[in-house]
Amino acid sequence: MISNCNIITLPKIHNRSGNITALNNGVDLPFDVRRVYYLYDIPGGESRGGHAHKALQQLIVAVSGSFDVTLDDGTDQKTCSLNRPYYGLYVVPGIWRELSNFSSGAVCLVLASAEYDEKDYIRKYDDFVAYRKDILNNKLPEKQP
Ligand code: TYD
Repeated sequence: MISNCNIITLPKIHNRSGNITALNNGVDLPFDVRRVYYLYDIPGGESRGGHAHKALQQLIVAVSGSFDVTLDDGTDQKTCSLNRPYYGLYVVPGIWRELSNFSSGAVCLVLASAEYDEKDYIRKYDDFVAYRKDILNNKLPEKQP
């Protein structure tokens, strides 16, 4: 897997009338949640993401439908298909991500470790590659959790 990104199996409470997944800060997640957002009404063929974060940690969940997440640490790439509400993809800082192949009606829930901050984004791939090189050459401290 790319860096420390991995799929976390989320708790599921099952009964005949349906399922519940509840996420408790400090118990079920590797970071404290400061923000929740979700992507929906995504037109067919669209992709999202196309950026990295310097410090933000995220958990990405396909709460409905399915989509693919491609992670890139500047050296390796890996694509994960998310299609179950009880799997979360944990994305550490400094990883370029692209979300694609959204099914019709898909909802992408994102739990994030900080409030929205445009300064935390790296939006150009060339800048991302340079940022990773600086980390590898120890010119920049890696902002790991
Ligand atoms: P962006 O993170 O680029 O979306 P995606 O990665 O899903 O393609 O955000 C798109 C727009 O929404 C951008 O103008 C910033 C705004 N935005 C907020 O205001 N708050 C948020 O928490 C997020 C995630 C985005």
